[in-house]
Amino acid sequence: MRKPIVAGNWKMNKNIAEAIDLVEAIKCDLAQTREVEVVVCPPFTALKACSDAISDTEIRLGAQNMHWEKNGAYTGEISAEMLRELFCHYVIVGHSERREYFKETDEIVNRKAKAALAANLRPIVCVGETLEQRESGQTEEVVTSQVKGSLADIGAESMKSLIIAYEPVWAIGTGKTATPEQAQEVHALIRKVLAKMLNQDVADGVRIQYGGSMKPSNAAELLSKPDIDGGLIGGAALEASSFVDIVRAAKEVVEA
Ligand code: PGA
Repeated sequence: MRKPIVAGNWKMNKNIAEAIDLVEAIKCDLAQTREVEVVVCPPFTALKACSDAISDTEIRLGAQNMHWEKNGAYTGEISAEMLRELFCHYVIVGHSERREYFKETDEIVNRKAKAALAANLRPIVCVGETLEQRESGQTEEVVTSQVKGSLADIGAESMKSLIIAYEPVWAIGTGKTATPEQAQEVHALIRKVLAKMLNQDVADGVRIQYGGSMKPSNAAELLSKPDIDGGLIGGAALEASSFVDIVRAAKEVVEA
């Protein structure tokens, strides 16, 4: 069985003091949660403080981006090894905001995912169609090519450490959530693509998160779908209470 994974993507929010407050509040409820994997992804500047705060808990740390090289003349960039040094376990790669504002292509996302895996960091690889693509019936084609491109040449063994996040761009930060049926359809498609790329066994083991306006009121329904294995949470992860409630919903689905 796939253990659900709920990750908070804080994006460019929270200074160090605010980050500590948020992580301490999350800790109160989730420090020893094991049925669901809980991950927080603060901005780079708050990683160290959050890492220290959660060191004695089951909560895992993730970063929001990284560079694919180990070191070198890449002003402003941060490598996988540097993230490992702060005890990061996860790193989000290819978020739609990075694809849109920073022109990250599938090829770049693929390089980052491979570099993360090589450094023992688990990539959360994001894919998802825009509203225009959905409305013109291109969802399947777009998501398939993103999965194939972003995960090219990643072997079966590495794939076990990798997480995929399906995030329809039109649902991110808009309050518009994909219906559980719409999300399930794409999650099943992603699993089918993985089975073709590798094999059914590997595809069945990979966890696929849903992201895009997930909140306490819609989490249970989304998470109870067979191919939805957790959530990548933006807005609702900035408040401890809503993030904790989403994790609780995931826990209830596991226990049901
Ligand atoms: P949202 O963001 O929950 O605010 O829609 C999700 C994400 O961008 O990962």
